[in-house]
Amino acid sequence: MAFTFFFRDRHTLELVGKLTQEFTKGFSKIKVWNAGSAMGPEPYTFAIILSELLGPYDYKKVSISASDIDDRDMYGKIINEAIYPLNELERMPEGILEKYFEKTDDPNRFRIVDSIRKSMTFTKHDLLTLKPFDTNFHVVICKNVLLHFHYEQRIEVIKMFHHCLEPGGFLVNEQTQQMPAECAHLFEKAVPDANIYRKI
Ligand SMILES: C[S@@+](CC[C@H](N)C(=O)[O-])C[C@H]1O[C@@H](n2cnc3c(N)ncnc32)[C@H](O)[C@@H]1O
Repeated sequence: MAFTFFFRDRHTLELVGKLTQEFTKGFSKIKVWNAGSAMGPEPYTFAIILSELLGPYDYKKVSISASDIDDRDMYGKIINEAIYPLNELERMPEGILEKYFEKTDDPNRFRIVDSIRKSMTFTKHDLLTLKPFDTNFHVVICKNVLLHFHYEQRIEVIKMFHHCLEPGGFLVNEQTQQMPAECAHLFEKAVPDANIYRKI
């Protein structure tokens, strides 16, 4: 199983949530791609952050495409069921468990509420094919994935993300990821203290 957890790098996801809220004001749809989603904690965290910012009415505009190479064909099922063990939910901010998760028959397992679950779809997808399964995203989040690729592969994948984003949309990487010089003309840094880039 890939290493990931709910509210990992909360700072960056909250920042891009606020930028997304401003950028998409007045839009009828908000499209997000979480590439390399693993079992779902990252895309569901971003979904919860957006729901908190937008409120339940405007959150209905949001669709999140989670994708992963998913070697063992496990992640799609986990993300669609949206049931997670309590020990994976203990580090969440106060009030989130009560608001966004409901009990199941098993007292140690909780299910994400329908309003959030319905906004999420999973697609099995290998980023290195460089063939996106959709376009016109307002946000692409790809964290702790590019570090597994060679430098040349990173450049090509970042160019693919650029192609998939709407003008002014955001690409999000982990703090330690550097934007290759070959892609610097495609994006500008959106904030000083996180790797959030705006498509030029
Ligand atoms: C460390 S996890 C990161 C999970 C999450 N993004 C996070 O930051 O918590 C890396 C994920 O990248 C996925 N991955 C690796 N190579 C990939 C590829 N070529 N295409 C799509 N996903 C890939 C792995 O399957 C794994 O789920």
